[in-house]
Amino acid sequence: MDATASLSLSSAMDHPSSHPAFWSLVQGRRSIRRYRDRPVPRALLEAVLQAATWAPSAHNRQPWRFCVVTDPALKERLSRAMAARWQADLAADGWPPDRIARRVAISHARLTAAPALILLALSMADMDRYPDERRAQAEWTMAVQSTALAGQNLLLAAHHYGLGACWMCAPLFVPQVVAQVLDLPSDWEPQALITLGFPAEERSSERAPLESRVLWREPPPSLDGEPPLPNIGPDPDPP
Ligand SMILES: Cc1cc2nc3c(=O)[nH]c(=O)nc-3n(C[C@H](O)[C@H](O)[C@H](O)COP(=O)(O)O)c2cc1C
Repeated sequence: MDATASLSLSSAMDHPSSHPAFWSLVQGRRSIRRYRDRPVPRALLEAVLQAATWAPSAHNRQPWRFCVVTDPALKERLSRAMAARWQADLAADGWPPDRIARRVAISHARLTAAPALILLALSMADMDRYPDERRAQAEWTMAVQSTALAGQNLLLAAHHYGLGACWMCAPLFVPQVVAQVLDLPSDWEPQALITLGFPAEERSSERAPLESRVLWREPPPSLDGEPPLPNIGPDPDPP
């Protein structure tokens, strides 16, 4: 790291306001669930998808896949198909019918009123294959993690371009239903739906204090008070 970079890093640590563009992108993004009745231009959809594909991925295999849904009839069919299964699950959990109907109606309104839905899926087609379950599971988890990182890039890009977006986990519970309604390739595994549009609401959110989520394991201070230099070896070969 050169002197300028390390200087700006230490000012960033001093105060987020030293890097307002970065912090407004990261802290200003909110999950937006209500949208204006205005289509999202194709160029904007392509821009957020491009940003998604610049996420890091395991072995750079880019296991993410996206299906963009703007057709109102298809949004309607997708929402109804997912709701049918969800209703059955909630009924089996013992929910009263009127409560189920309310929840499903809210979800249906959100999905169908969003100008664009982006189905986020993963494919194992280009990932490594292992004969044993332990490593196969780890490889699959890497694909999930890579796909989630693409999703975060997409959410940040949407915010950057003045769009609102929200991650919805529903497809995880009904992956076959989603794959069938959207006619997805057989290797695509639905992970999430991202609703997208020009925002019609402002939201706020909170974060737990850093110290409640972080453990530090630092070297003990040396006798003269200077922390010892870290022992950094050469970069290992990428797997
Ligand atoms: C894996 C994941 C699943 C989520 N599922 C849903 C969901 O199904 N419905 C929803 O309204 N929001 C969902 N969210 C959005 C979270 O509720 C939201 O990120 C959280 O409340 C923090 O708010 P913020 O995004 O505005 O910071 C999900 C977020 C993630 C990361």
